[in-house]
Amino acid sequence: MKHIIIDCDPGHDDALAILTAIAHAEKLRILGITTIGGNQTLEKVTTNAKNILEFVQAEIPLATGQKGPLTKELRIAPEAHGDSGMDGPYFNGEHYPIASDNAVLFMYEKIRACTQKVILVGLGPLTNIALLIKVFPEIRNKIEYISIMGGGLERGNTTALAEFNIYVDPEAAEIVFNSDIPIVMSGLDVTEQAEITVAEINGLKNKGRVSHLAYELLHFYNLSGRQFGFINSPIHDLCAIAFLIDPRMFSGTSYHVDVITEGKARGLTYADKRLAAVGKQNTFVLEQVNRKEFVHLLTDALAYLDALSPIDRENKH
Ligand code: RIB
Ligand code: CA
Repeated sequence: MKHIIIDCDPGHDDALAILTAIAHAEKLRILGITTIGGNQTLEKVTTNAKNILEFVQAEIPLATGQKGPLTKELRIAPEAHGDSGMDGPYFNGEHYPIASDNAVLFMYEKIRACTQKVILVGLGPLTNIALLIKVFPEIRNKIEYISIMGGGLERGNTTALAEFNIYVDPEAAEIVFNSDIPIVMSGLDVTEQAEITVAEINGLKNKGRVSHLAYELLHFYNLSGRQFGFINSPIHDLCAIAFLIDPRMFSGTSYHVDVITEGKARGLTYADKRLAAVGKQNTFVLEQVNRKEFVHLLTDALAYLDALSPIDRENKH
């Protein structure tokens, strides 16, 4: 059993990652979910998190984190995720409780109280996680590793060099990569392979309550991706959760990875491939994924949640 905390900025792909994690309670115990300003403002991504959790009647503690990056201005992504941050589905109001408005203290207390080491999952800018490490450095020995969606060794998406989550807060990313906590990095190298096709998206339509929600999310996200040249839709954040559930569908290489924080290369993640860097690896960089297994993980998780009647859901907790 892996004990995890998910830090996220829902976000279409964040939502699908959260749903898949919830469907795998046999492997993942979600100690909490924290939100961070990123795809949209903190308020909007928190509303989106509430809507997703309420939709599947989850009972996972939810805490809000930082509004924006450590030093720079927040750069949101309405062009990709819409004005709500999760355009597509309609939710008629949410009442999901907020357990804390201090994600850093919330994560610290959850990790300290856990009898096992905890895995942090970063699906947005790394501000909350960086602050946890800086404010409570001793907590690092209770963190097994950090599985992030972020970065890329070959290219960016927000700039030619930088991926969005790292670009928004490169100072936070630099703290995390230099924290001595092992990192599993689902960068664009692997996440842009982890795509769902239009036909697979349409196969979710009216298939079940949760599958149809995923269809509405992915239908919007697919159309939005066309402006960036995508035909199919990379489900970036799901990689960081899929690795925890079934790492065998991935392959990768360990490198020493660091981050550029200033100038035209701001947000660039690079690997030190010199012989002198051998033995100083801090990051397992995912490079390949079995796409069909990846998509099946999602569709099977959605089907599982579809089948959970309200009665089952009550008994499940
Ligand atoms: O670059 C992709 C990342 O940026 C994903 O986490 C997506 O949700 C956005 O936050
Ligand atoms: Ca995200």
